[in-house]
Amino acid sequence: MTNVTKLGFPAGFTWGAATAAYQIEGAVDVDGRGPSVWDTFSHTPGKVRGGDTGDIACDSYHRYPQDADLLRSLGLTDYRFSISWPRVIPDGAGQVNQAGLDYYKRLLDALCERGITPAATLFHWDTPQALQDRGGWASRDTALRLADYAAVVGEALGDRVKRWITLNEPLVVAHNGHRIGVHAPGLCDDAAAAATTHHLLVGHGLAAAALRASVPGGVGGALEIGITLNLTPIRVTNDDSGSAEALEKARLVADAAQNGLFLDPILLGRYPEHAPSSMLPPAELVLDGDLETIAAPIDFLGVNYYQPVHLRAGDPANLRRGEKTPQEGISGKVVEFYPDGLEQTNMGWLIDPEGLYELLLRVSKDAPGLPLYITENGCAAEDYVDPDGKVNDLERVKFLHQHLEACARAIKDGANLAGYYVWSLLDNFEWGYGYQKRFGIVFVDFATQQRIPKASAAFMAQVVRDNAIPALPAVWPV
Ligand code: FCB
Repeated sequence: MTNVTKLGFPAGFTWGAATAAYQIEGAVDVDGRGPSVWDTFSHTPGKVRGGDTGDIACDSYHRYPQDADLLRSLGLTDYRFSISWPRVIPDGAGQVNQAGLDYYKRLLDALCERGITPAATLFHWDTPQALQDRGGWASRDTALRLADYAAVVGEALGDRVKRWITLNEPLVVAHNGHRIGVHAPGLCDDAAAAATTHHLLVGHGLAAAALRASVPGGVGGALEIGITLNLTPIRVTNDDSGSAEALEKARLVADAAQNGLFLDPILLGRYPEHAPSSMLPPAELVLDGDLETIAAPIDFLGVNYYQPVHLRAGDPANLRRGEKTPQEGISGKVVEFYPDGLEQTNMGWLIDPEGLYELLLRVSKDAPGLPLYITENGCAAEDYVDPDGKVNDLERVKFLHQHLEACARAIKDGANLAGYYVWSLLDNFEWGYGYQKRFGIVFVDFATQQRIPKASAAFMAQVVRDNAIPALPAVWPV
C-alpha cells in the first residue's frame, strides 16, 4: 500500500506483540512444571474443540530464541508474554522451581540481546491445579498465593522486566471460567464467580504491592505496574419505540457488568452501583482494607479490545435473526444485536474500530493522566499457506489498519495511549477453540512448528518502521 498521507504516532510509541504461556509454551511436563487448571480442562473430553491441548502448542519453551528473532525481524520494540505460575511454583504455594525461573531468565536475556522491551503478565489464566484443588479463586487464599508468587518472580526477574501486568482479563476468568464454564476450571456457579471477581481484584492489589516491594528500583523509575482488562463500549440504538428509558437502564447495567466490575474498584475503590447483584461479592467477602488494596495507584492500564456490545429494543423471549439474549441483570424489552452493516471476524466477533476510538477516549476521561496500553487487539481469520508458500491474510491487514487508524485518531483527540500490542505474535492454542482459530501475525504449522510471517506481519513491520500508518484506502484490496 503506497499512500502519500500517513497518520503518525507520537515519538516513543510502544509497538509490541502479545502471547500467553499456556497458549504458546508447550513443554507442560518439562523441568518440574506443575499442572494448571488449563491442563486439566483441556484434557477433559468435550471441553476443548477436537480435544486439543496446550501440551505442545508452539513449543516456545524450546523455540523462544527463534520467536525473539521474529520479533526483532519485524522491528517490534516490545513483547508481552506471560509467566506460567505452575512452572515457577508447581504446587501454587511453597517450593519454588528454579528451572522454571531460569527459563524466564533465558527468555528475558534473549529479548534484551535483541533490544526488545518485555512486559510480563503474572497471571494469564493458568492457575496451579493444586490451588484449584483447595478452592481456586473462589477462595481468598489464592489471592495471597498470587502475591507470594509475585514476590518470587519480582525478585528473580525484576532486574529484567520493565512493565508488569498483574492479571489478564479477570472478567473472563470469573465469567467464562466460573459462571458459564466454557473455560477452566469449568464451573457454572454464580457464587463462585462473584467470589472469584473479588479475590482476583484483591490478588491484583496484593501482587502489585509485592512487586513494588521486591523489584529493585521500587516505585517510579523504570518500574511500571498495571493490570489488563477486557473493555467494551456499550452502544445503544434507539428506534424511538418508546423504550428509551429501558434502554438507558440496560446500558448502565451492561456497562457495569462488562467494564465497571473491574474498572471501578481499581480506579475508584468501589463496585459499580448498576452491576447485577449476582455478580457482586457478598459483603462478608469484602474485608476491611480490601478496596484500598485494590485501588492502590497503578502506573498504566492495559486495555484488550475486540468488539463492542450493541443493545436495542426487542423481545428477549422471541429473538430475531442477529439478536442475542442480553447481559444478565438487564430486564424488560431489550436485546443485544449484531448490526447488519458490521462485518464479523472468523470468531463471529464484530469488526468495529470506532468502538476502540470511543473506548480509548472514555477511559482517558475516566482515568485522567493514566497511560493506556492496548495490550491485545487483533482478529482470527481463515489463514492458509498458498502455493507460493505465503500467507496473504488481507482480512487481518485491513482489521489492523482500521484499528490503528482509530488509535491514531483517538490520540489526536486526547486519548492517553502509549502503546499497542497486537494479539498475537503467533497462531496458538485459542482456549476452548484449540488450534482452529488463528490470531497470529505469524503463521504456525503446528505439525512442523514452522513459522511463516503473514502479510499482516509485513504490514506491522512497515507501521513500526514509519511510526505511522498509511491512509485508509477508499477501497480495500480483496
Ligand atoms: C483474549 C485472551 C487472549 C486471546 C484473545 C483472542 O480474551 O486474553 O489470551 O485468547 O482473547
